[in-house]
Amino acid sequence: MLSGTASPKTGGTELKRIVFDEETIARRVRELGQEITTRYSDGELLVLGLLKGSFIFLSDLVRRIDRPLQVDFLVAASYGAETVSSGNVRLLYDPETELAGKHILLVEDIVDTGRTLNRLVSLLKERGPRSLEICALLHKHIAEHLALEPAFIGFDAPKAFLVGYGLDHAQNFRHLPYIASLT
Ligand code: IMP
Repeated sequence: MLSGTASPKTGGTELKRIVFDEETIARRVRELGQEITTRYSDGELLVLGLLKGSFIFLSDLVRRIDRPLQVDFLVAASYGAETVSSGNVRLLYDPETELAGKHILLVEDIVDTGRTLNRLVSLLKERGPRSLEICALLHKHIAEHLALEPAFIGFDAPKAFLVGYGLDHAQNFRHLPYIASLT
């Protein structure tokens, strides 16, 4: 068990508190894997990780799903108001895998305002998937309107800024094995 948050991994930075420790995350990821396995009894499943934040969660999660699946990633970037794009989201990396006719499970690290998800949902629906669901590790429940509520949620998150287990602050702290609040 960790006694404090300052460590070689944080470069000595003292984080405010550990919100979800390693064992708690591992237990919940195992449960999510079981929920997802049960939900998809047939058809092709494509697990789509939204980079960068979902990379650790996704790699742990897919190992807990007991059925055939494919993995691909999305890298999205927001456009400024002056730039024309589909729903204001531009895909920096577009999955090479065909989406049409497959169950798509979009894996996200954290739902905050929901803006990213809202834009991606309409973009992905245009590709003609058999179904589209979201699995979010964390949900702050502050989004006013979500085009699609996550069907799978790891944890309800406090309204603090969280880091670790893939989540960053200025690209730091992604490699912490636990989730901590920075502020
Ligand atoms: P949204 O579009 O406001 O829902 O923001 C989603 C994205 O913002 C997430 O995928 C994260 O990359 C980032 N984000 C939101 N809240 C946090 C946080 O507490 N810590 C780290 N990243 C966050």
